[in-house]
Amino acid sequence: MKEARNVATKKRASKAETRHSEEFQPAVLMHSIGQLLTMRPHEGSKGPRRGPEMRDIGLVRDGALLISGGKIVAVGTTRELLQDKWIKQHRRELIELDCDGRVVVPGFVDSHTHPVFTAPRLIDFEKRIAGSTYEEIARAGGGIRASIEPVRRASEIALAEFALGAFREMAAHGTTTVEAKSGYGLTAESEIKSLKAIRKAASQWQGTVVATLLAAHVPPPEAKDNPDRYVDEICEEMIPAVARQKLTKFVDVFIERGAFTMEQAERIFASAQAHGLGIRAHVGQLSHTDLKPLLKHLPQSIDHVDHIAHDEITMLARTDVVATLVPGANYFLGHKYPDARKLIEAGVPLALATDYNPGSSPTASMPFVFSLACTQMRMSPEEALVAGTINGAYALGLEAAKGSLEAGKDADLAVFEIEDYREIPYWFGSNHCTATMMAGRFFD
Ligand code: NIG
Ligand code: FE
Repeated sequence: MKEARNVATKKRASKAETRHSEEFQPAVLMHSIGQLLTMRPHEGSKGPRRGPEMRDIGLVRDGALLISGGKIVAVGTTRELLQDKWIKQHRRELIELDCDGRVVVPGFVDSHTHPVFTAPRLIDFEKRIAGSTYEEIARAGGGIRASIEPVRRASEIALAEFALGAFREMAAHGTTTVEAKSGYGLTAESEIKSLKAIRKAASQWQGTVVATLLAAHVPPPEAKDNPDRYVDEICEEMIPAVARQKLTKFVDVFIERGAFTMEQAERIFASAQAHGLGIRAHVGQLSHTDLKPLLKHLPQSIDHVDHIAHDEITMLARTDVVATLVPGANYFLGHKYPDARKLIEAGVPLALATDYNPGSSPTASMPFVFSLACTQMRMSPEEALVAGTINGAYALGLEAAKGSLEAGKDADLAVFEIEDYREIPYWFGSNHCTATMMAGRFFD
């Protein structure tokens, strides 16, 4: 990025910022932004974006942002901000960044990831190439269960390093907020270790991390004959412990044949809600999940949604439950994509996420997910970007601080070296994000 004035001041300020982060954070004026996607809502619009609102990107051409104390202070055109009285008076003290026509978007909110594992699953990958399905591989001892032993053996520090590596890679692609699930330990001890690893990684990263307990990923091998006892352990031991230690905001359940039944999920959700935790669920990924009992619990988000019945779409559209689509998993497993158009047209608010994990979606790139959303699910570029920003924020209950560039919100944003925002989903397999700001600081 080209600084209009005083490059030296910027460099000095950045160093000072790192050294005295608490005391000294000069205000930043970003201007000459070719296209600034604010994602601000239309007047009267409330809750997660749905239907035609999913195209509201709040585009400002030749935009500008004033950032101070990690927050957005003002948003407008370059002309408006340069004429602002306060900015005029303080211009010499500001760090000024000339964005030279580039595109600036709110930092992406990746609202569904599984970053606590130790290695890629290359044997599963080869088996699938040779023709086995995800479920066949899982039944033969591969799949999620193949990641368990290495996670149980790994130290909290080693797991934190893996997760931090993922967060950094995500940030390099424009992501500034990440939901991170446990789910490869599957004992009280190793699930708590995984959540502590997430907390440790989050403390070393400039972005925002929301942790989720996914002890109900699959029943672990030792619970094969009595999965209900494992569900009891989740409800009576793990959830109370992680709630007490404030290690998680959400509890997730993989509701699927070979994983957990709706009845088991409802018990887990009742325990989570009794302990003040939010709930979310993997549904309809490999087969249809009956959403009626689930929607009574009003989960924050239901994810995958590859299989859904017509009347369930109608029911879902009447709630603020976000449906989070993860087309990276469909791509990697060669599964049919969910019917995003039908969901949008029925008024279901959609989010998009990477589902970053070693088995079904090894990608950290939200732009790649947007590309899949556009080319494979016929979402428009605007809908994809809304789904990966403000609706992702709703999917995590963070809409007051994240997902749009509005005064008072966190200064989390991404700069793309392109001229038109539609190029974000257009180019795939290469990264055009050149800078990511989190809480007012550029990522390094
Ligand atoms: O969201 N469906 C369950 N969990 C992951 C897959 C995890 C894995 O295969 O390791 C998913 O696709
Ligand atoms: Fe997942």
